[in-house]
Amino acid sequence: MQNRPLIAIRKVRKHFLGKEPIFTDINLEVSGGEFIFLTGVSGAGKSTLFRMLLGLEKPDGGIIIFNGSDVRTLAGEDMCRHRRSIGMIYQDYKLLQKRSAEDNIAIPLQINGSPRNIRDKKIKDITRKLKIGKLLKQQVQSLSGGEQQLIAIARAAVHKPILILADEPTANLDQKMATRIFEVLSLLNSEGTTVIFATHDINLLKAHQKRILLLKHSVLVEVH
Ligand SMILES: Nc1ncnc2c1ncn2[C@@H]1O[C@H](COP(=O)(O)OP(=O)(O)OP(=O)(O)O)[C@@H](O)[C@H]1O
Ligand SMILES: [Mg+2]
Repeated sequence: MQNRPLIAIRKVRKHFLGKEPIFTDINLEVSGGEFIFLTGVSGAGKSTLFRMLLGLEKPDGGIIIFNGSDVRTLAGEDMCRHRRSIGMIYQDYKLLQKRSAEDNIAIPLQINGSPRNIRDKKIKDITRKLKIGKLLKQQVQSLSGGEQQLIAIARAAVHKPILILADEPTANLDQKMATRIFEVLSLLNSEGTTVIFATHDINLLKAHQKRILLLKHSVLVEVH
């Protein structure tokens, strides 16, 4: 079917035991190719929403459709395929510290079972695109935070996911590096990858004319 949204979230509810309900009625449509900022105070549920999109957390009610499939009903190989179609980027990078940058970037390709020559070509492509050639052979623990985040983005993007979920990727970085991270994600977006970028960074939100979604009082509102 043409023109269907990439993501359709309808009437999603979630209530963790012993806490205030986190989502009472979340609704969202995202078209393929969009770049969206997701914001909201600490505890508003940004990471939980990402976990739901990945199928790591189930809503109490409502539906989450991704690329034509109801995420709640996926299991086994279908769930693995679903998760492989999403690239995750975290505030704390989640890289293997004692391995080289290149080894880390190769991980999704190893999981996919890509043959060696394809793996090498894809790593070369993303390295050139992100301009991280000088970092490739270095051990991750010797890299700065910003450099580690670039490697984490390369790992998330190397197998060309449909969607990148960036969970406060610039929270630990200075403004210059935050801008570089934004630009790298914008570049991937301009090549067709849908990006949802969770952030508290008011400077980034103000500096770029993007769709902004705000999680507040257990619902999701469009602020721009
Ligand atoms: N598995 C869980 N069990 C119980 N409570 C949870 C669970 N996961 C999240 N929560 C609660 O849900 C709320 C939202 O958490 P979440 O991490 O999604 O917020 P956030 O917007 O990402 O915050 P931050 O900006 O600090 O990263 C918090 O109150 C958190 O404690
Ligand atoms: Mg979070």
